[in-house]
Amino acid sequence: MMKIFKMKDYDQMSQKAANLIAAQIITKPDCVLGLATGSSPIGTYKQLIEKYNNGDLDFSKVTTVNLDEYKGLPRDNDQSYYYFMNDNLFDHVNIDKENTHVPNGMIEDSEKECADYEALIASLGGQDLQLLGLGHNGHIGFNEPADDFAKTTHCVNLQESTIEANKRFFASIDDVPRQAYTMGIGTIMKAKKIVVVVSGADKADIVEKAFFGPVTPHVPASILQMHPDVTVVGDEAALAKV
Ligand code: GLP
Repeated sequence: MMKIFKMKDYDQMSQKAANLIAAQIITKPDCVLGLATGSSPIGTYKQLIEKYNNGDLDFSKVTTVNLDEYKGLPRDNDQSYYYFMNDNLFDHVNIDKENTHVPNGMIEDSEKECADYEALIASLGGQDLQLLGLGHNGHIGFNEPADDFAKTTHCVNLQESTIEANKRFFASIDDVPRQAYTMGIGTIMKAKKIVVVVSGADKADIVEKAFFGPVTPHVPASILQMHPDVTVVGDEAALAKV
């Protein structure tokens, strides 16, 4: 069953998504959260930090697993997803850093790192709640459009459009990594609950395709239509066509 919340703007979207995550932490303090990067969830993380500062949330028993990471980018590079998570959430709440996990993009052996990451998620019992953003081409994590759905954590070659979209964060387009490690579609679909945050008019077309179009690996997020507990939280601009 897919639920859709159409919120007024980015701020309202972030508040709603943070409330859903807070409810998960309150009902299961030792939950496993699957987390995402990108501009869409930043406001959600801000709201979670605010709840923590107000004494309404305790992260001390929470474990996190992130969706993806660029391959070959050191963890202290401010564009690495490891850095992003510390900067936007972990440094500001009482989470035990030992319990936060991001694929290690500096491990050269892709097969080993991806197999280890997949095994780690399985050993934690999977994600109770997975937060997702949505790429303009329908990617989730870094699962790019393809001829089939990738099941487990794997190494991907990023599409030109993704490299193009991310170049604003790097000194030049040549500095944008060409590969990434990402949870597979199977890894994501095993989460008990999924929350997708989408904002902005530039996402309106892909939102319509992903959630109301045919289920196809050419729009990776379309598989979410098959998940039993998906909540899409968007602003009016992103949900303009639905
Ligand atoms: C990146 C991330 C995705 C994210 C997407 C959308 O490529 N790997 O996990 O969902 O971009 O980003 P944004 O939220 O900035 O639009």
